[in-house]
Order: sequence, then structure tokens, then C-alpha cells
Amino acid sequence: MRKKILAANWKMNLTHTEAEAYFVTFLSEIGQVNDLEVVIIPPFTAISALVTASEKIPAIRIGAQNMHWEKSGAFTGEVSAAMLRAHYVKYVLVGHSERRMMFGETDEIVNRKVGAALHAGLRPILCLGETLQERDGGRVEEVLRRQLGKGLEGLAPRDLPEIVIAYEPCWAIGTGRSATPAEAEQSHALIRAILSELFGKPTADRVRIQYGGSVRPENAEDLMRQKNIDGALVGGASLDPRSFARIIWRTEAALT
Ligand code: PGA
Repeated sequence: MRKKILAANWKMNLTHTEAEAYFVTFLSEIGQVNDLEVVIIPPFTAISALVTASEKIPAIRIGAQNMHWEKSGAFTGEVSAAMLRAHYVKYVLVGHSERRMMFGETDEIVNRKVGAALHAGLRPILCLGETLQERDGGRVEEVLRRQLGKGLEGLAPRDLPEIVIAYEPCWAIGTGRSATPAEAEQSHALIRAILSELFGKPTADRVRIQYGGSVRPENAEDLMRQKNIDGALVGGASLDPRSFARIIWRTEAALT
């Protein structure tokens, strides 16, 4: 059984004091979380505050939105995997479409980051997905094959269960237009089939694949009921602690 994983990608939002206030409300809303893993992914500046606040809550992990692949050096403005580990960070987003589109991250860079994260003991959440143009051009499979093939190049099957894949079609991110559960499931099944070709079926069956792109409390349950959808990466709707808590409840409802 793959444990479902819900992650809140705050992007460039909330100061560390706002994060602390969020967390107080969030904790009072969610109650006991047993069968899910919840990851909060704030900006770097709020990581330390949230790690302290979540210390005693085993279901909640803290993640980072980015890292550099080198261990240290003259890379102004960057943060290494070891620096994140030193803050007890467990997960790191790699290759989010905003980083690919706005900051020039290529599949090669993404691959280096995945390798460096694993090497340092972090779990990468590898984000991928097609643009609207690629979908309209019938190129979804080609894009996913390339992003998975290159993004995971050089990894061994034993590395794979440490990795989470986040399928985020670019046209669904921040647009309010989520993929339908059927559309998402189709891509997730395809991703699992490609992973199976690359690493073998037993390994592919263990990898968790999150869906991301306009996930809200209203659509979460139907998405989470799909066979190959193992969680969600939530942007906008995760900025309100009550709405992220409702997404957690809807996911718990989907487990029954
Ligand atoms: P969204 O963002 O939920 O606001 O669409 C998802 C993401 O970018 O991870």
C-alpha cells in the first residue's frame, strides 16, 4: 500500500511569523492524522519556525521548494541539500514548472538535483507535466517520457521509493482549471507504466505519484479516489490553513 502524501507548496508566500500563525490554526483544524503523510513546503525563511512547531507531530514533515546540486561553493543565492538536512527538512521540490519556465531549469539540472538530494538523504518530489500546447499537440506521452527518462537518469531501482513524482499539467497550475479525475488518472497510469519500463514493475508500484494543479477541497476526494493518484501537491488552496485542512479530510474520506 502506498501511503498518500499531501503537500502544501506555499511558493513565495508567508513570512515566518505568518507561517507560525498559519500552523496554529492548521493544527487545531486537522485533528489527528493517521493514515496520511502531510508535508508543508514554505519559503526557506519559514523552514526553521515550522520545523520547531511541528517537532512533535509525526504525520507532518517540512519540505523545501528548491536546492542547488553542488555541496557548497560560489553560488550566490543558493542553498545546498546539506543545509536543508541540517534543518531537519525531509522533502525538496525539484523541477517545479515555475522553476523550469522562469528560472531555466532543464531536465539535466533537475537530474543533478534529484541525485544530490538523494545523496544527502532528502526525498525529492520530482515535478513534471505537459504544457497546454504539448497536450493539444498530442505530445503528453513524449513529454512525460523525456522528463522521467532524463530526470531519473543514473538512478537505481532502490532509489525510486525515496522519490515522489508530482504530475502537474502546466495548464492546471494556478488556473482554477484542474485536470478531471479521469484525465489525471490517465497520465498517472502512464507515468507508472513508464517507471515500470525503466525500473521494473515492483519498483514502479511502490512510487507515490501526486497530482497537482488547482486541487481544492471540492475536487480533492474524486481525484484521490483514482487508482494511481497517491496524493496531491497543493499551491493556492494550501495558503489558507482551513482549506488545506479540508483537503486533508477529503483525502481521508477517499481512503474509506
Ligand atoms: P495550484 O499550484 O494548486 O495553485 O494550482 C500547484 C503547484 O504549483 O504546485
